[in-house]
Amino acid sequence: MSRTDPDNPARPAPGTVLCPLDEIASPGARGFRFRADDAVFAGFVVRRGEAVVGYVDSCPHAGWPLAGPNGRFLTRENDLILCAGHAALFRIEDGAMVAGPCQDVALTPWPVRMVDGAVVTA
Ligand code: FES
Repeated sequence: MSRTDPDNPARPAPGTVLCPLDEIASPGARGFRFRADDAVFAGFVVRRGEAVVGYVDSCPHAGWPLAGPNGRFLTRENDLILCAGHAALFRIEDGAMVAGPCQDVALTPWPVRMVDGAVVTA
């Protein structure tokens, strides 16, 4: 069972509350992990002001989680998503890889939205 598999039983159902918006720095990102028996789903949410966007935490290059030991998903400038595996860079808006070992690939979206000040799966 891959983290990117839409049928992953660990993937939280739409409407699952992830956290209050103010628990994510702006700009910043936070990872979330869910487990169901042997299945694991990992995603992360990037916040910029009131805007949030989510992606499955699996790099399209080799399938590794993006954050390194420091837990960071963004570059030092907070302007791009960084994969610690081989330093690929992704646009925050659409997850497209803009630098790195692959071409024409993108992060898998994990839809999220804001509901009453909280980040919720969509
Ligand atoms: S696993 Fe992300 S760049 Fe290689």
